[in-house]
Amino acid sequence: MAAEFEVKLARSGRTIPVDAGQSVLDALQAHGVEVATSCQQGVCGTCQTRVLEGEPDHWDMYLTPEEQAANDCFMPCISRSKSAVLVLDL
Ligand code: FES
Repeated sequence: MAAEFEVKLARSGRTIPVDAGQSVLDALQAHGVEVATSCQQGVCGTCQTRVLEGEPDHWDMYLTPEEQAANDCFMPCISRSKSAVLVLDL
């Protein structure tokens, strides 16, 4: 299946494809990248990850609208990407 978008990990330079049917978190974990999680529903904030470049597609209920609009962090357990590549501080 073609990737819906890609996440690039700024610290390692790795690029990980995210398929339409999987969460960013699933894609990261499938490639051995560990992110702390709890609810996996965009509610708790545990998985909050900094976004360095790109535009997240926010689906969480944790960040305020202002925080979502800032586009400098997102919840990889549920949120996706509007841009073809999302660069993460991982
Ligand atoms: S694990 Fe709870 S918001 Fe992602």
